[in-house]
Amino acid sequence: MSIALIIPDRDLTDLQQRLQQALPQTKVEIWPNVTEVEQVSFALVWKPPVGSLSSLPNLNAIQCFGAGVDAIFLDKAVPSVPIARIIDDRLNQTMVNYLDAIVSHYRLRFDRFSQQQQQQVWKPKSPRKLANICILGLGELGTAAAKHFVSLGYKVSGWSRRAKNLSQISCYHGDAELAMAVAEADVVICLLPLTAQTENLLDAQAFAKFKNDSIFINVARGAIVDDQALIAALNSGKLQAACLDVFRQEPLPTDHPFWQHPAIFITPHISAVTNIESAIEQTVINYQRQQQGLAMLNLIDRTQGY
Ligand code: GLV
Repeated sequence: MSIALIIPDRDLTDLQQRLQQALPQTKVEIWPNVTEVEQVSFALVWKPPVGSLSSLPNLNAIQCFGAGVDAIFLDKAVPSVPIARIIDDRLNQTMVNYLDAIVSHYRLRFDRFSQQQQQQVWKPKSPRKLANICILGLGELGTAAAKHFVSLGYKVSGWSRRAKNLSQISCYHGDAELAMAVAEADVVICLLPLTAQTENLLDAQAFAKFKNDSIFINVARGAIVDDQALIAALNSGKLQAACLDVFRQEPLPTDHPFWQHPAIFITPHISAVTNIESAIEQTVINYQRQQQGLAMLNLIDRTQGY
């Protein structure tokens, strides 16, 4: 039995060595340099190239190297084996830290002062009043973020596909309740999984439901947002700013209008980078469970796509 690491465009030497040390009886190899494809029973993947997983005839399980599994399903022929993802308090904390910093950035008007600096303008202004925050997506990361903002005294609403009940958070669900979830929000944070249902969910109609002058933050996936609709909402003044960490195409192409837009702040998909220690721990546990015939931890529901 062997494990294949299918994580393109990344130096995997360290990860391979550490997994090999933790699992001395099992060969850990970096795809596509796999000596015997028939031997691979377990794959650790991030954005696996189309066809890579189906090239492993005896694959029993897939462990995703991150929280979001959407890139796995870009391959329509993904073998029908269980798929697990990373669920990690350290990852939640990284995301919470990022969101905390970004909300403070806007509250303290750092966006405005940064533009003023370019023009050598000295013009103090008191903080923005950001009292209500809406979190779209109440999964692991969304719930951690919602609880964090509640603990800071914000009024928090949340929206998910399925009904949720979380203390001190006004929970809404389903298409019909999206408008209620965002209606009062000064800041809307997208933490939804990317699925067939959420692709292009945030289009012109959806942005029309946002509170006037609100701020939008996307730390989920770029394809949940209709790029042109976002630009139109910013240009019309419906939204006053957007912070984007994720994009339809990454790296964001140099000619994409987001780069030059004065109301858009861009970060290069760094809001919640997988913690390598956690990834190794969870991979080892899930590999061993799968060897023992036990269900892996943190399984996704393939019918839901997350
Ligand atoms: C990062 O985007 C992740 O899904 O872990």
